Amino acid sequence: MKESEPDTFTLGSRAPHRQLKKTGYGKFAIQEKDGSWNATKFADRCAGCHTTAVNAQTKAFTEFGIDCYACHGVVNLEHTNDTSLILLSKKNRTAPKTVASICGSCHLRGGKSKAMGVPYAYHYVAGDDLFSDYQAGNSSDGDRHVFRNVQDTLQNKSDVTCLNCHVVHAGSSQKHRRVLTSPACLDCHNETGPKKAVKPYSRANTACERE
Ligand code: HEC
Ligand code: HEC
Ligand code: HEC
Ligand code: HEC
Ligand code: HEC
Repeated sequence: MKESEPDTFTLGSRAPHRQLKKTGYGKFAIQEKDGSWNATKFADRCAGCHTTAVNAQTKAFTEFGIDCYACHGVVNLEHTNDTSLILLSKKNRTAPKTVASICGSCHLRGGKSKAMGVPYAYHYVAGDDLFSDYQAGNSSDGDRHVFRNVQDTLQNKSDVTCLNCHVVHAGSSQKHRRVLTSPACLDCHNETGPKKAVKPYSRANTACERE
């Protein structure tokens, strides 16, 4: 999320983008395709995954965009002396199911909060068990490998996580070539023949209103 002008924000790093306008503390109106502004949709349907620390009563967010806390959790200030105190650091040895919860809190699109009915994890704090409140729905095409990986981690106790394949800060998935071949590869590659061939997939997603 980028502040394009004072109090005006652009959502998404690639087209089609959505325009947002600040309407109060922790509140955005979102622009519809016909140009009109919707005052409630962003808080009701988007805020939980596109902003940080949404208040459970008011649905107001604390930070626009995705802050460090969304993945690294509540930060112990001693972490500058001892990086094992912070989730996802090399020395932390974050459990695979914790990684699945953190990344799944936004990437398992199409689910809903049991307590609140909103289509995002409600009051989830990185480090918690996502699935105590969030009911993951069904994967759409582009999210298929995400759902499979989370399921493998939770149900089959696989220790391959998102982080075996993605280096988040570098925005790279190069590492995935070194992971052992398994059924998970077939979401994107063919069973036989060279791995150079990649199956096409669609980014369409109803949670994000992407057709
Ligand atoms: C989308 C999730 C995400 C967000 C947001 C995020 N990080 Fe990270 N960060 C990670 C992951 C995952 C790692 C582990 C290395 C990797 O695979 O990229 C990491 C690693 C790090 C490390 C290296 C720690 C170590 O000892 O290995 C530092 C430092 C760091 N992050 C700082 C930050 C800061 C500061 C912010 C906010 C500006 C931030 N991160 C936001 C996911 C995130
Ligand atoms: C708070 C919500 C949130 C969390 C938590 C989160 N992500 Fe994301 N992630 C996003 C959003 C939103 C985007 C899309 C950014 C854009 O395109 O503007 C994204 C994009 C990505 C991308 C694609 C980048 C690209 O090139 O399109 C990868 C890979 C990714 N995230 C992996 C992870 C992993 C791994 C974790 C867990 C460590 C994680 N994310 C945690 C919200 C989140
Ligand atoms: C076995 C390796 C592997 C695992 C495990 C894995 N990914 Fe991926 N993921 C990839 C590869 C490879 C791509 C394609 C990158 C490309 O197109 O350059 C990808 C693509 C993505 C994208 C971008 C899709 C887009 O819009 O282009 C996101 C987001 C993402 N992964 C998130 C996750 C999350 C979250 C997890 C953990 C729950 C995860 N991945 C687990 C290998 C993996
Ligand atoms: C989410 C989709 C996705 C998944 C899952 C995935 N791959 Fe890939 N893979 C890609 C994409 C896209 C490329 C080409 C770009 C790149 O390297 O990131 C690729 C490239 C490769 C290459 C390099 C091929 C070449 O000759 O250039 C290898 C090897 C590979 N993948 C192995 C694997 C293995 C092994 C698995 C399972 C553990 C796997 N992939 C799972 C999407 C995926
Ligand atoms: C459950 C979490 C979740 C909800 C709810 C959600 N999004 Fe997203 N959104 C994501 C993730 C994760 C990505 C990144 C997907 C990727 O790169 O594969 C994303 C990407 C986007 C993008 C970037 C363009 C793209 O597709 O890469 C836009 C724009 C967007 N969402 C708009 C919205 C709007 C508008 C709403 C509310 C109507 C919404 N999203 C609700 C998680 C969510």
